[in-house]
Amino acid sequence: MPSLRELLKKVDIVDVISSYIELRQVGNNYVARCPFHQDDTPSFYVSPSRGIFKCFGCGVGGDAIKFVSMYENVDYKEALLKLAQKYKIPLKLKSSKEDQRVYVALQRVADFYHEELKLSKRAFEYLKERRISSWAVNRFFLGYGGETSKLVKILRGEGLLEVYEKTSNLNRLDEESYRDLFKNRLVIPIRDLGGRFIAFGGRSLGDEHPKYVNSPESEVFKKRYNLFGLYEAKEYLRESAEAIIVEGYFDVISMHQEDFRNCVAPLGTSLTLEQGELLSKLVKSAVLLYDGDSAGRRAVKSSVPNLLRVGLEVKVVYLPEGEDPDSFIKKDVRALRELLSKAKPLHEELLNKVRKGEKEAFEELLYYCSFISDGIKRYELLKELSSLTNMPLSLLEDRLPKVELKTKKEKEELSYHEAVFLAGVFRFGFESLQTESLRLSPQALELLQAIKDGNYHLLPDYVKNLKLFNFERAFEESLRALSLSEELPPIDFESLREASVKTPRKLRIKR
Ligand code: UTP
Ligand code: MN
Repeated sequence: MPSLRELLKKVDIVDVISSYIELRQVGNNYVARCPFHQDDTPSFYVSPSRGIFKCFGCGVGGDAIKFVSMYENVDYKEALLKLAQKYKIPLKLKSSKEDQRVYVALQRVADFYHEELKLSKRAFEYLKERRISSWAVNRFFLGYGGETSKLVKILRGEGLLEVYEKTSNLNRLDEESYRDLFKNRLVIPIRDLGGRFIAFGGRSLGDEHPKYVNSPESEVFKKRYNLFGLYEAKEYLRESAEAIIVEGYFDVISMHQEDFRNCVAPLGTSLTLEQGELLSKLVKSAVLLYDGDSAGRRAVKSSVPNLLRVGLEVKVVYLPEGEDPDSFIKKDVRALRELLSKAKPLHEELLNKVRKGEKEAFEELLYYCSFISDGIKRYELLKELSSLTNMPLSLLEDRLPKVELKTKKEKEELSYHEAVFLAGVFRFGFESLQTESLRLSPQALELLQAIKDGNYHLLPDYVKNLKLFNFERAFEESLRALSLSEELPPIDFESLREASVKTPRKLRIKR
């Protein structure tokens, strides 16, 4: 491995960070709203000359690698590898060098297919028939699986044949002949978030079976960690803060072509938790746009939990039975636009149905509730459900299906009182509080320590932004609920405030 310093010297931090968030130049520095806390004013600074970033709001800071590791939620080493790959800085790590050559080979093959498309009258006719524009052809870098011998020759000539075989897209039959999975098919390249080609899908041009073939899983292609269209949709996802999720390749392509460019699809399976996590870094909500038939409904039911688990707001839009977005958009774009714009968050829709007395909606809502990772949100929803149905809250809580905690976020889940307590400590300071005599879960203790150390970025957003009608009273209540001793003296908020002013903290919290 080159030394870290060598790598950091070659990497421009402004370039790195601006590939994730928008930076604005101010003098010699750049500023932005901090992506690590709810930032109303741009308090996030990047200094290109020093190669570091720093947020004066929540206190996070570091070099380009640290930024990537925080933003992508990966460890330092993985972030380092990502950067090295992106900037084509050779790392003396065997596996990553190998990997890099696979990517080079995949790029070469994508180029080949794309060129071949221009030579294939049949593929051209197919696209025309499906009303796919040349804009979409270029945007998605569509291709055609032309002469395999030509492809083999190119790869061999560049010394990439052997490494490409690792993808299993191209398989050796005997000494001289190879079989290309995508031969004679329309090729749909799949790229990772950074735009590298990682796999292909191939559509038969006629009625041959199977309709689609896909690259097998490999070192560089793990279905569950990628989404089709993610790279192409990336900037639109960030901009709209919403993702439209459809089922198929052509659905994504047609949607983009009709200006719904924040559209992605899972890769032939139902949406995974990992795909949800990927989306949750880019957007706040997700609209599932699925066929209204029973298969579509099943797909929704299995996808929603993976979106809720990562804290996304979910909407569901069903198309008329037998339609997919690709077919529907070609019939009636306006109707689709209308359906999308009218979509309401799933919990609101379900609450409305509960209001009308629909029993299934009640069960469904309770089911989904158990996947909501944000304790406060879930609590409020249950409270509303309880007042609608006149069922005591505790009964509803008992009836929540027990869900195995899967994500890091969920594992760090706080109880309601812990969340209020931490929000209060964050707000009022901790200096004159007796926190030793509280009954706190390990994750709450950890976060309390984080506040004491000034590591505010470790606090979940919902804690930092918690709004309650009478905050001081709620805080006091929660403190009492968590306290091990029976009698707790009333809290003197005045002196709390004073103390926190006297002992300067890294961040002065606005009141
Ligand atoms: P669909 O069967 O709904 O096909 O599969 P589609 O997307 O409408 O295909 P067109 O419009 O006829 O071309 C949805 C998705 O499931 C995966 C593909 O990703 C497809 O886009 N799939 C489907 C496969 O991987 N293999 C198959 O044989 C079929
Ligand atoms: Mn279709």
